Amino acid sequence: MESLLSVKNLNSAQVLWLLRTAQARLEGKPTQLKGTVVNLFFEPSTRTSLSFQMAAQRLGLHTLHFSVEKSSVCKGESLIDSLQTVDALGVDIAIVRHGDDWLNMVQDQALNLSLVNAGSGYWEHPTQALLDALTIYQHFGTFQNLTVAIAGDVHHSRVARSDAILFQKLGAKVIFTGPEKLSTNDITGVAWMDFDSAISAADVVIMLRVQHERHQTAFNITNYNQQYGLNDARLKQLKNDTIILHPGPVNRNVEITDSVLDNPRCKVLKQVTNGVAIRMAVLEWCMTGGKYGHLVSA
Ligand code: CP
Repeated sequence: MESLLSVKNLNSAQVLWLLRTAQARLEGKPTQLKGTVVNLFFEPSTRTSLSFQMAAQRLGLHTLHFSVEKSSVCKGESLIDSLQTVDALGVDIAIVRHGDDWLNMVQDQALNLSLVNAGSGYWEHPTQALLDALTIYQHFGTFQNLTVAIAGDVHHSRVARSDAILFQKLGAKVIFTGPEKLSTNDITGVAWMDFDSAISAADVVIMLRVQHERHQTAFNITNYNQQYGLNDARLKQLKNDTIILHPGPVNRNVEITDSVLDNPRCKVLKQVTNGVAIRMAVLEWCMTGGKYGHLVSA
């Protein structure tokens, strides 16, 4: 059994295996596997939670329903205790989303099950990075010589961090942009650029939601769309073949306008579809032990 906790330890051959397997799952019949999967989501989710359930069902895996609000977490059960419990129940894969840096909390735990990171605080969202990579790969067929601009609330974004680490590994140049007070400098190799210059230089523009729930003080979004949003006027600044991504959920008409969401360059719903395929590939990898040895172990 393998685990996927971080994009940091993935090499390009492993990423390509996951992308090719996901593409094959989009085009053909899935392998059928035996096992049980549970989603342990301590933060809200629509896309990641449903697509992992869909992926597991397509692979013939049994899915257990777990709702934090109706679980013994409400009586004080810790994440480690929940994980040890589902491990003892015989669950094969636990898919975890938590607001803390939970990877550090589990690293010394001896668990038989596989762990998949479905979001850890600001830090990592590896399956989102993989599905973003698949969406880019489908369009360009390569990452070499591509420039990816990641724009918006970068500071609070685990997607920005996982994307930046993964895309650089695959050969792309990554730029962070948006309001300077929402910037971060904790990812090596990423340049900071003003918004208009960044989107004009980019082959891929990834817009990020202002994550109001993670801000310590209220963030004022008056004029955000004019200053840092992708709208009809800014579409004209993009290169002819540039595509637009957004991990969702979207703050409509804040970081991206309705009209841009409806534009064929915008791949938001394709990302969602690709999310099911990537998560099938990740679950297959976990269940079959991986073709390239250890992916990332807990
Ligand atoms: N992109 C993403 O993680 O969306 P959800 O929060 O809806 O899962």
